[in-house]
Amino acid sequence: MKVALGPRGGQQRLEAHSPTHPASCKFLLVAPTRGSEAATGFENRSNRVDETVLAASRGAFPEGQTSITLGSIVHDGAIHPEPTVRLALSMMNRHGLIAGATGTGKTKTLQLIAEQLSAAGVPVFLADVKGDVSGVAAPGEASPRVTQRATDTGYPWKPSGYPVEFLSLTGTLGAQMRATVSSFGPLLLAKVLGLNDTQSSVLAMVFKYADDRGLLLLDFNDLRAVLQHLSGAGAAELEEYGGMSKQTVGVLFREMVQLEQQGAGAFFGEPEFDLNDLLQLAPDGRGVMSVLELRDVQDKPALSSTFMMWMLARLYHTLPEAGDLEKPKLVFFFDEAHLLFEGSSTAFREQVEQVARLIRSKGVGVFFVTQSPKDVPADILAQLGNRVQHALRAFTPDDDKALRAAARTFPKTSFYDVEETLTTLGIGEALVTVLNAKGAPTQPFVVHMIPPASQMSPLDEGEMQRRLNASAQVREYATPVDRESAREMLAARAADAARAAADQAASGAPPTATKAGRSRATREPKSALEQALSSPLARTVAGVVTRGLMGALLGSTRRRRR
Ligand SMILES: Nc1ncnc2c1ncn2[C@@H]1O[C@H](COP(=O)(O)OP(=O)(O)OP(=O)(O)O)[C@@H](O)[C@H]1O
Ligand SMILES: [Mg+2]
Repeated sequence: MKVALGPRGGQQRLEAHSPTHPASCKFLLVAPTRGSEAATGFENRSNRVDETVLAASRGAFPEGQTSITLGSIVHDGAIHPEPTVRLALSMMNRHGLIAGATGTGKTKTLQLIAEQLSAAGVPVFLADVKGDVSGVAAPGEASPRVTQRATDTGYPWKPSGYPVEFLSLTGTLGAQMRATVSSFGPLLLAKVLGLNDTQSSVLAMVFKYADDRGLLLLDFNDLRAVLQHLSGAGAAELEEYGGMSKQTVGVLFREMVQLEQQGAGAFFGEPEFDLNDLLQLAPDGRGVMSVLELRDVQDKPALSSTFMMWMLARLYHTLPEAGDLEKPKLVFFFDEAHLLFEGSSTAFREQVEQVARLIRSKGVGVFFVTQSPKDVPADILAQLGNRVQHALRAFTPDDDKALRAAARTFPKTSFYDVEETLTTLGIGEALVTVLNAKGAPTQPFVVHMIPPASQMSPLDEGEMQRRLNASAQVREYATPVDRESAREMLAARAADAARAAADQAASGAPPTATKAGRSRATREPKSALEQALSSPLARTVAGVVTRGLMGALLGSTRRRRR
């Protein structure tokens, strides 16, 4: 029997289990769920989970390996009060998916996994899209619900806060995140600016031009200066790259202004965020959780998701090969992951896919957190070995299709009707399959998740402010640096050109091949400046910032076009 429970159906069913919420009992008459549980209500709590199911789960989640505890087995309306479902630490770099409809428990799942990683000495990166993750810094509070959940799962719950550093794209809710325009690269920037394919390739061309000329693109002023140069005095220089229309330049300018008006100006530039800061351990050996606070940039979803992608790409570039590790070096939680892929180009998705595939060998695990598995492109989904699937809703024919598709991606099980299970899971329950030590997916089990040890609500403003004031990392990134880059270099070139022209006019002598005289309008051979700019030194400086990007590291469209 398949039953649509409504948006909060899971919760109602969950609470129907609970003797602490007798009022919800009447709901069972209205919306029965699977099997005997629907008919018998609370009595199911005392039911025992079938021994065959338990034996199979013990095989799937063996004891004895260092692991993250997820929760306990649920079957046929009964919970087995022993937290036997776990994720092996050695398999965390095989990536994961935490999915489920809104309010089903994704963030709490992310929280309880992140906490245990930290406790095991693994640094964690968390995106806090709605501002509900900051509580990880403070110990959780006991409540009847938490106590009930701890009892139900047989988990010895102990409140604990974790070492946290806050990061912020605007600098107001944590250390100011910054990336240079060059290292962000044309693909990610095109995504942030919402460019179409033609506009994106023009942007790629501009990057290539700047790279070839050793013009550092650090902030938007640099990019603007290069665009201005190429649409004015330097237009002829661009011919060898294919040229660009005035319209497209217009669009680029407009989109840049819009992004700046939304406050993204502070984000592009230097000092660039040092990714080693993500790999810190606290003095007590626990992994530091870097929490990127995004609630103040909710209107710029493309910026936050692409920034996270930038981090991953840079991490890939920076970290040495690690092989198979007992525990990951860093685990990255990509919340609201659908934002990353919405409206993105094929090239972009390919890059994400490649980065996800390759970063595994560097000991980095990536967990995508999103509402529906279909939010993640199939190639990427196929790489996510660890799945925690919370309830899905099936209100519309489209939902129903998505549900069936999601169900098909689970390994076979004779214990559950996967499709039905996916729509009837309670809040904080999930269908879980993980990779076993041999790298094969376990059969899926329904799991009642343990409660997080840290606070489930956000830190209050005062506490947050106190922590930000005390953070050396926040201070370190507070002040921007504006060193010589494309804008200054082009300005100097223009000044030189003007001076040379004036000198020439005064002396009546023919033009010399100076920096300034290198105008393609006159079609000179490669000048000294051009050679100087493509000198090893200049190229190293430029290379450091441009080559780190996904494109450069994987042979991007940009590089291939060379
Ligand atoms: N493991 C858990 N332990 C305790 N409570 C939980 C757990 N999972 C879910 N809950 C309860 O369910 C509520 C919703 O969970 P959560 O915020 O994680 O949902 P979500 O799927 O992230 O929702 P959204 O899509 O809106 O972000 C929590 O506030 C909490 O009360
Ligand atoms: Mg959430």
